[in-house]
Amino acid sequence: MEKFLTGKTAIVTGGSRGIGRAIVGNLAEQGATVVFTYLHNQQQANELVETIAVQGGSARAIAADMAQPEDIDHLFLSVMNSCRRLDILINNAGIAIYKRFEDFTEQDINQIFDVNIKGVFLCCRHAARLMENNGSIINIGSTVTRVMLPTYGAYAASKGAVEQMSKVLARELGGRGIRVNTVSPGPIDTELFRAGKSDEQIARLAAQAALGRIGTVADVADLVTVLLDERSGWVTGQNILVNGGFAA
Ligand SMILES: NC(=O)c1ccc[n+]([C@@H]2O[C@H](COP(=O)([O-])OP(=O)(O)OC[C@H]3O[C@@H](n4cnc5c(N)ncnc54)[C@H](OP(=O)(O)O)[C@@H]3O)[C@@H](O)[C@H]2O)c1
Repeated sequence: MEKFLTGKTAIVTGGSRGIGRAIVGNLAEQGATVVFTYLHNQQQANELVETIAVQGGSARAIAADMAQPEDIDHLFLSVMNSCRRLDILINNAGIAIYKRFEDFTEQDINQIFDVNIKGVFLCCRHAARLMENNGSIINIGSTVTRVMLPTYGAYAASKGAVEQMSKVLARELGGRGIRVNTVSPGPIDTELFRAGKSDEQIARLAAQAALGRIGTVADVADLVTVLLDERSGWVTGQNILVNGGFAA
């Protein structure tokens, strides 16, 4: 089968684990040169690079904290120096802290907003300056902007910001053929999702989806791949929910 991303360069933030790891795998499988970031898990990142190389693909891992603007600058500089082009940006790295409003500290709020809002914004700013015409930016949001869950206040606020900045950016970059979309997963079986939840809570959440299960990382990564295909070339400025009917 033809690899439709051959010759393209992609950045994926937070590619060492979870949803980002599956996205990196899909993009490399389709022939893209993928540069992905990790924060702590260098070993998992290196293993992914090696697996992709064995499969004939091309990936590189860079340590970068999305809360640190200088790390983001370094990431984009490194990609432009080595690959000379940027066609795809997937802003996937994200964190969550679950607390009731009365218990949130200012530090918690800054931590979430720095990674989930400021980090995504700064990556989008680099992409706006550097990306080739007809490129694509996909920002990972969340279904929690549609389903109001107690303790998700700061996280939901951050993902609402991601949706809104994506829509404005789609307007700004449309003239260059660059598409900007948000992909908003429902509950997906990753470490971030499982943290602090009992098996019973997870089963209850699964039962709330029309399809009666929580999602897999492939459910999200495959939608991202579809959105990058030129047959999705008329899709921009959208927030696409991938949640098994969780918020239907
Ligand atoms: N899982 C869900 O149910 C769900 C639902 C809706 C939306 N989402 C969104 O989907 C995205 C991925 O979530 P996930 O569940 O795959 O998370 P995850 O399993 O916790 O993986 C997070 C990834 O982001 C990286 N990362 C974390 N903090 C970072 C930082 N400050 N700077 C750079 N990289 C950082 C991690 O790197 P290390 O491995 O080095 O730590 C890891 O690669 C997030 O934006 C999340 O909000 C998830």
